[in-house]
Amino acid sequence: MRISQSWQPISLRYGDNGHLWLANTDLHALAQDKGTPLYVLDLATLMARCQAYQQCFNAYPGKVQLVYASKALSCVGVLQLMHKLGFAVDVVSGGELLTAFKAGLPGEKIVFHGNNKSRAELLDALMAGTGRIVIDSLDELTRLESLVHDTGLPAEVLLRVVPGIEAHTHEHIKTGQRDTKFGIPSEQVLEAVRRVLKQPRIRFCGLHAHVGSQIFDAEPLAQCAEVLLDLAAHIETQTGTWIDDLNIGGGLGIAYTDSDHPVALEQVAERLIISIQNKCSQLKKPLPRLMLEPGRSLVATAGLTLYSVGTLKEILGVRSIAAVDGGMADNPRPITYGAKYTVDCVNKATEDLTHKYRVVGKFCESGDILLKEAQLPKLDIGDVLVVYATGAYNYSMASNYNRVPRPAMVLVTADQVLDLVARETAEDLLRHDQHLPPDLLK
Ligand code: LLP
Repeated sequence: MRISQSWQPISLRYGDNGHLWLANTDLHALAQDKGTPLYVLDLATLMARCQAYQQCFNAYPGKVQLVYASKALSCVGVLQLMHKLGFAVDVVSGGELLTAFKAGLPGEKIVFHGNNKSRAELLDALMAGTGRIVIDSLDELTRLESLVHDTGLPAEVLLRVVPGIEAHTHEHIKTGQRDTKFGIPSEQVLEAVRRVLKQPRIRFCGLHAHVGSQIFDAEPLAQCAEVLLDLAAHIETQTGTWIDDLNIGGGLGIAYTDSDHPVALEQVAERLIISIQNKCSQLKKPLPRLMLEPGRSLVATAGLTLYSVGTLKEILGVRSIAAVDGGMADNPRPITYGAKYTVDCVNKATEDLTHKYRVVGKFCESGDILLKEAQLPKLDIGDVLVVYATGAYNYSMASNYNRVPRPAMVLVTADQVLDLVARETAEDLLRHDQHLPPDLLK
């Protein structure tokens, strides 16, 4: 069975013509119509993932605010959907903030993150009436204090702390350990709280931590909640202030291939809720509002990328290579993290997987390999390949390396295809280039 895998969108099916379809859209025809590479998002999967989070965390007896970490995939249409589905949105830059704003999110549904927010970004956040600004360092707090003083605008803040928890994931996406660029080091937390409490226009709302990304186990998240609650209790004994919000970040992993086995969301929710309830009753404290910031686990499996095969190369006695029209610029995860993906041939979906290929991109770098080894039907030039689970950290991390325009993105609903992002053009690539004066070139 090559469909109904957890890394595939739920609307994926075989069509009568032997192609892969997404709901009522033939993916091969879509590739012909819109061109490749093409990012495709399945609305049904996106909605199902959002609803699963909502259902699982409904069991928490206190208040819950689910926050979509928009760094995973940020564009106006996706944020409009998240807003409609009741999610708040986490942003980490002026650009992500602007996108959330354009998508119609009210300020109070925005959480502003980042380990080095500029004065200009903090000012944007204050002007937007951002619901929560997550302070990441004492220097940032100094900038905020001065801005609040100069503008008279109020701020509601969480302090990002370092829980000292090791999550078993890639070095580049771990954040919970003590040696990290994120968060206020533990020895400075009390000073930060005291400074916030001194400011009449800055409200201390609670604590935040994020232990890392692509985590397969409920344990680090539950431990993180417990560490934060212990810290909150310590803060209360020192300052008399208890927290309103407990924000334990995102990080739940997904399966990209059949060797990935992430814990089910239901189990994470159950484990977390029990830990928080137990800890609060042990501390004799009221339950805080629980905030979670999933990114990848909401959008990754809703997304897929379509590519056309342009070159087939046989290196005798070594391997067969299939080169597609995209690669590391639209999906930098394999070269950055050694990430693995799963691939199929859209227009030969029911043919036997008789051939082994290395699927490579078109960019000038030997490491531009999308899949080191893929079992596929015999390929021909013009075949369309689909790489699954590309909804998170693909478009958002895409570049113009080799001056290749970034792909378009579409949303597939039960009966329509809607444009989310237009394909970049040659003019887009040249838009910011300036010509030097002729006399310099004489
Ligand atoms: N909250 C905070 C404060 C974060 O830093 C992140 C991710 C999230 C939430 C969402 O985490 P998620 O649920 O998506 O794991 N580019 C890497 C992932 C970097 C994650 C950065 N922070 C990748 O492609 O794997």
